[in-house]
Amino acid sequence: MTEKNIVLEIKHLKKAFYDNGFEEEIVADFNLQVEKNEFLCILGPSGCGKTTLLRCIAGFEKYQGEILVNGQLKKEPGVDRIMVFQDFNQLFPWKTVEKNIQYPLKQQGIRDKKELDRITAEYLAKVNLNGIQKKYPHQLSGGMKQRVAIAKALALKPQIILMDEPFAALDAMTRNKLLAEVLLISQNEDCTFIFITHNIQEAIVLGSRVMVLASKGEVKIDEKNTIEKPVTPASEGYGNLWKRLHDALEDESAQEQ
Ligand SMILES: Nc1ncnc2c1ncn2[C@@H]1O[C@H](COP(=O)(O)OP(=O)(O)OP(=O)(O)O)[C@@H](O)[C@H]1O
Ligand SMILES: [Mg+2]
Repeated sequence: MTEKNIVLEIKHLKKAFYDNGFEEEIVADFNLQVEKNEFLCILGPSGCGKTTLLRCIAGFEKYQGEILVNGQLKKEPGVDRIMVFQDFNQLFPWKTVEKNIQYPLKQQGIRDKKELDRITAEYLAKVNLNGIQKKYPHQLSGGMKQRVAIAKALALKPQIILMDEPFAALDAMTRNKLLAEVLLISQNEDCTFIFITHNIQEAIVLGSRVMVLASKGEVKIDEKNTIEKPVTPASEGYGNLWKRLHDALEDESAQEQ
């Protein structure tokens, strides 16, 4: 048996928010192991704590329990875990595309202009963007902004990319194109992805593993997605997996009402 290469381990994660002195438990006792280069897609009803979970992993929230990356406890943000958001406005509006990508690289100590430009061009090409280095975010479409955000994240060579519904605000055609691009990137980059979506098809197309969460971070479904990539709705096993994920989500939504 081959040894598992665990990049992320979450042990007994608990997260509560306090409102006017009242404690609201959002994640009760969440445990997870993610293997290196896995593409984990997480589905779950609105409000079940998906974003909160991702924010804890990213180090943006205080939490109880343990979150370990390569065996090391993580309590603060770091370049080993980079988050890509749904919001189109995650780039600095006053900086050009290249300055947006290069800013965190400079903070990491890369100072050589040629090297910074090389990295910028390399990662923009990976998301099929060329020749837009000098443009400002307001000159880009929503899809282009998301591509730049992904390029910016990848350029830092993180261990884990955390994506919170990055395509939810895009039109169907742009979304499908970006899906294909991210799938290709994930197959070529040495990086682990945790990807939150409300879209079952997106989860099946991208994920090497799919998970359905219920309220308080309860795990309803957690399984390997063995459908051969590239996945289409005509792929063997697609309908079956789609129905199981759909039914688990329906169950949860029904219980919330
Ligand atoms: N900063 C905060 N302060 C207080 N409560 C919060 C805070 N952030 C989130 N919550 C609450 O935590 C719960 C889970 O929120 P979260 O954003 O993690 O859900 P989600 O699963 O990402 O939902 P969606 O699918 O709608 O994005 C919600 O009830 C929300 O109101
Ligand atoms: Mg959310």
